[in-house]
Amino acid sequence: MTDLPNLTISETDLADLAAREGVIAIFATPDGKLDQGARKISTLSKRAVARAVEAEGFEKLNEGEALTLGYPAGLAATRVLVVKMGRRPSVEVARKAGATLAKARGKGDLLIMGGSIGRIADVAFACALRGYSFTAHKTADAEPQDALEVMVNAVDEVRAASDVLMAIAEGVVFTRDLTNEPANHLTTTEFANRLKEMENIGLKVEVLEEDKLEELGMGSLLCVGLGSASPSKVVVMEWQGGGDEKPFAFVGKGVVFDTGGISLKPAGGMEDMTMDMGGAGVVAGVMKTLALRKAKANVVGLVGLVENMPSDRATRPGDVVTSMKGDTIEVINTDAEGRLVLADVLWYAQERFEPTGVINLATLTGAIIIGLGHENAGVFSNNDDLCKSFLKAADAEGEGAWRMPMGAAYDAKLKSRIADMKNVGGRDAGSITAAQFLQRFIKEDMPWIHLDIAGVASVKAETAMAPAGATGWGVMALNRLIADGYEAE
Ligand code: BES
Ligand code: MN
Ligand code: ZN
Repeated sequence: MTDLPNLTISETDLADLAAREGVIAIFATPDGKLDQGARKISTLSKRAVARAVEAEGFEKLNEGEALTLGYPAGLAATRVLVVKMGRRPSVEVARKAGATLAKARGKGDLLIMGGSIGRIADVAFACALRGYSFTAHKTADAEPQDALEVMVNAVDEVRAASDVLMAIAEGVVFTRDLTNEPANHLTTTEFANRLKEMENIGLKVEVLEEDKLEELGMGSLLCVGLGSASPSKVVVMEWQGGGDEKPFAFVGKGVVFDTGGISLKPAGGMEDMTMDMGGAGVVAGVMKTLALRKAKANVVGLVGLVENMPSDRATRPGDVVTSMKGDTIEVINTDAEGRLVLADVLWYAQERFEPTGVINLATLTGAIIIGLGHENAGVFSNNDDLCKSFLKAADAEGEGAWRMPMGAAYDAKLKSRIADMKNVGGRDAGSITAAQFLQRFIKEDMPWIHLDIAGVASVKAETAMAPAGATGWGVMALNRLIADGYEAE
């Protein structure tokens, strides 16, 4: 598991800064005002900081960007990073500053001279998240993580803010590690084991094995894993931090690898399908965050863990299976497997927990990438209030999300000649017909959102808060949705 940098929050101490090794970050406002710590560093460096801030290069920076002074005279530090940022930054600017520092710091311990600047905990949070790298399978001697220290005037206040943010960061990193992990390492069994470990932090975790899933009648989920040597599983994670009210439910698609099955995918890019458990990864990350910050809410997280492989035992195109709900499904294309998994887990979640609302996450369709690219997840919902709350939370966290339409005309595409429905509705509006399929397994009046995260769960280029690879998209937004809408004060 990737560790977050070791973060210390200490009281401002301007003595001994000249002898301080590593990297020092200081702040200057857009109109060039240095705060207390920055003034001290400037004096020690014989006004190198003040002159840099007066130069044209500083003026051209956007807020949250930084200048680097290498090997400044008068200081033992190898670098001073001068961040352009107002004294009361928005969350967005503070996080941008943190990401800037993560990229510019290079090797060595980092000291952030926060003084009494606002939202300094967000700077450290973003620095930790953008500094993430997945090194589990690099054999070079793992170097010890460089330390991260933040010097501030109001230690208690910043520590309190930082504790919550670091709980979120732990969740995001957990999601990223799971999503980056190759499928020969993250089998369904290994996945379940990693979830089971979260019992250490107070979650109740239950693993339902294949015989139990058969008993429950999950013919739709089970047909996906028939070709794989890895057993299918459903894992139920419960966080009880509220009273005796019904929980909110998160449901995730956990296809540890998606070959397409008998409807085999082409070879080019198939290796990316190691991230097809990204929805389950986000559910796991959110549950971790809620437990770590001891959220005052009742939340359940359910994930369907399967592997979609071709074999003589695999489901064939044309097969008809029976879902737990009782509806029959004609499997036209074995590569439309995510919806088959979710159908049964969604139904089970509603039957067992009678939740106040359900949000499912899935890397469900390539079509959503055609529609929205890698900037926004597709949002599908039967409930305007819940949907608005989610979009607001996602916007506040800078996680792109865009609502898509649904309707009866799309649903009609799922009509089958021989069963209650088929699992694909044709090429047109592929993401919407997939959402319509899921909605058939949502009870009347159950507030529900389906998040198609195929384009955002793992990306080839770096994003604001993550290097290339798994992003952990959604952990921050879903945590905020719970915090803002479902927690008792
Ligand atoms: N896991 C894929 C969707 C996907 C594609 C995720 C690209 C991430 C990146 C899903 O199971 C799938 O194969 N969907 C098919 C559906 C089709 C057969 C109706 C697709 O999108 O092509
Ligand atoms: Mn597929
Ligand atoms: Zn898939």
